[in-house]
Amino acid sequence: MDSRLRELVEKLAVEHTLADDEYFDLIEHRTPEAAELLAERAVAARQPIYGTTVFTRGLIEISNICKNDCIYCGIRRSNRNVKRYRLEPDVIVACAREGYELGFRTIVLQGGEDAYYTDEVLGSIVSRIKEACPDTAVTLSMGERSYESYQRLYDAGADRYLLRHETADPDHYARLHPVEMSWEHRMQCLRDLRSIGYQVGAGFMVGSPFQTTVHLVKEMRFVEFFKPEMCGIGPFIPHHDTPFAHKRAGALELTLYLLSIIRLIHPHVLLPATTALGTIDPRGREKGMLAGANVVMPNLSPVAVRKQYELYDNKICTGEESAQCRGCLGLRMNLIGYDLAVDRGDFR
Ligand code: 5AD
Ligand code: FES
Repeated sequence: MDSRLRELVEKLAVEHTLADDEYFDLIEHRTPEAAELLAERAVAARQPIYGTTVFTRGLIEISNICKNDCIYCGIRRSNRNVKRYRLEPDVIVACAREGYELGFRTIVLQGGEDAYYTDEVLGSIVSRIKEACPDTAVTLSMGERSYESYQRLYDAGADRYLLRHETADPDHYARLHPVEMSWEHRMQCLRDLRSIGYQVGAGFMVGSPFQTTVHLVKEMRFVEFFKPEMCGIGPFIPHHDTPFAHKRAGALELTLYLLSIIRLIHPHVLLPATTALGTIDPRGREKGMLAGANVVMPNLSPVAVRKQYELYDNKICTGEESAQCRGCLGLRMNLIGYDLAVDRGDFR
C-alpha cells in the first residue's frame, strides 16, 4: 500500500486527529487497501467500548407532512405527488409498545416539520411512551424547534435528539436548501440541544450534490470539535420527484471509508449503519458494521404508511412488518458475528 496512506491511517488511529491536508489526502487518494486497513483499525477502536454488540433503535415515522423544502428530500413541501399522512398519538404509542415487546429499548420518533405536533401533543406522546415502556430511551428527530420547545420536550422525558446538520459548510448548505433555511440556525439548534442535556445526533449525507473532498474535511473537523454522541451518515440517494432526481447517488465505498474515519476520530460515537446504506447495497448495513458502525435503526412504522415516508427512491423495508425487520437484522448480524442488544444503547 501507498506508504503515505498507511502512515495517515496509523496516525489517525493513535492521535484521533489529522491536519486538514492529511484528511484531504486520506480521503481524496483513498485506495481499497487503505479502506481495509482503516476498517481494521476502526473495528479495533470500537472493540473495547462496544465490542460486536449492535444497538437497535426502533424508528417510527410519525408524519410526512413538512413545512420545509429541502431540495434533496422526497417529502419536501413542493412535492405534490406525496400522499401525506400523520399518525395519531394512540397509534404512535401502540407502535412503541410493539417495539418494546420486540426488544427495542430506544424508540425514535421521526417526522417532517409538521405543526400538528406542538410541544403539548408531542410531549404527551413522549411521556406516554416513557410510561408504557420501562427502561426505554425516547429519541426525537422532528427538525428545528425553539430552545423553549426543546426544553419542554426534554422535560416531558425525551432523552436524545437527532438533527443532522447535513453539511458542515454553510455555502454547500445553501445549495441543498431553499433560502429561508439557514445553516447557522441548524447549528444553533444542535448547541441548544446539547446545552439542555440531550444526547445529540448530528450527521450528513455522503455524496450529496456539489459535495467535494474539501467539504468532507470540514465534516471530519466538525466531528472532532462538536463530538456528537451519535453521527448519522448515509449516502445521498436521488428521489425522482425532486430537483436532484438526476444527480448521482453517494458511493458505498466512500460511506464505509468515512464511517471508519469517524470511528477513529471519536471511538465512543454511536454510529448507525443507515437504511440508506442498506438501500444502495443489499449488504450495506453488514458492511457498515465491519467498517466500524454499531447501531441499526429498523422501521417500526405501520406498514400501511411506510411507502409514503419516501425520502429517497427504493427505500428498503417498506413492505415488512416490524417483527420481520428485527428478525431479519438479527440474522444478518449473527451471520457476520455480531449480536443485536436488548438495551437502551446509551453513549458510553
Ligand atoms: N438521500 C439520502 N438521505 C436523505 N435524507 C433526506 N433526503 C435524502 C436523500 N434523498 C436524510 C437527511 C435527513 C434524514 C432524515 O434523511 O440527511 O436528515
Ligand atoms: Fe427490514 Fe431486513 S431489515 S427486511
